[in-house]
Amino acid sequence: MWTYKKVLAHRGGGKLAPENTIAGLRCALAHGFHAVEFDVMLARDGVPMVLHDPYLGRTVAGSGNVFDYDAAELAAMDAGRWFGKQFAGEPVPLFADFVAFCKANGIWMNIEIKPAPGFEAETGKVVATAARVMFAAEIAAGDVAAAPLLSSFSETALAAAQAAAPDLARAVLFDAVPRYWEPRARALGAVAVHTNHKHLTEGMAREIRLAGFGLFCYTVNNRIRARQLLRWGVDGFCTDRIDMIGPDFALGT
Ligand code: G3P
Ligand code: MG
Repeated sequence: MWTYKKVLAHRGGGKLAPENTIAGLRCALAHGFHAVEFDVMLARDGVPMVLHDPYLGRTVAGSGNVFDYDAAELAAMDAGRWFGKQFAGEPVPLFADFVAFCKANGIWMNIEIKPAPGFEAETGKVVATAARVMFAAEIAAGDVAAAPLLSSFSETALAAAQAAAPDLARAVLFDAVPRYWEPRARALGAVAVHTNHKHLTEGMAREIRLAGFGLFCYTVNNRIRARQLLRWGVDGFCTDRIDMIGPDFALGT
């Protein structure tokens, strides 16, 4: 079941701002988005940070692995300059700061747990535990729609998240949905299946929905494809093109 918004800004602000930064969230807000997907992994000292790649060099200047650096070191690095000089000085966000900004601005979150290889269980546990603390009031009130949705390609991370925060919703992430996806999703207590829209078929979309799961696709940057997915019954998707596919995108728009 999908009780969340239909269109999410991918990696915070899509492709209009440096990914996984507060500047990205500001950009999403400026485009009317109040729902985002973003990626979280651990620094050397076990502090969750908002980052996509497990190594430096693409969005953050430098070299080595993210887990070679403590959170304070990462937070002092520049995650905006690569995208444009107007974003120079934009820091790598601490997960806690990113969530606080989202909460303060009414932004709903799909938190993708993105563990570095070898850190799957630890990352799932740490991220879920932190989220559970930050959303204690929403969880206690049974406000499922306001609490975040945790997702991951790592079923080990999701199992650890389930153990640490059973009352936070989870979604299993597949590039292509495998044939025997359902027992895996059920074992994790997942409420939704997230998948790469490029591999999704109408038949698989139907199968997932008939089984009672929400269905979410990444990353949809074409309006014609977005409409087709909605026709197939896809519940939600994230987009990089928040300028072209707005938060109220729907069949008929
Ligand atoms: O959560 C869906 C999507 O973000 C997965 O791919 O590489 O953009 O994190 P990626
Ligand atoms: Mg992601």
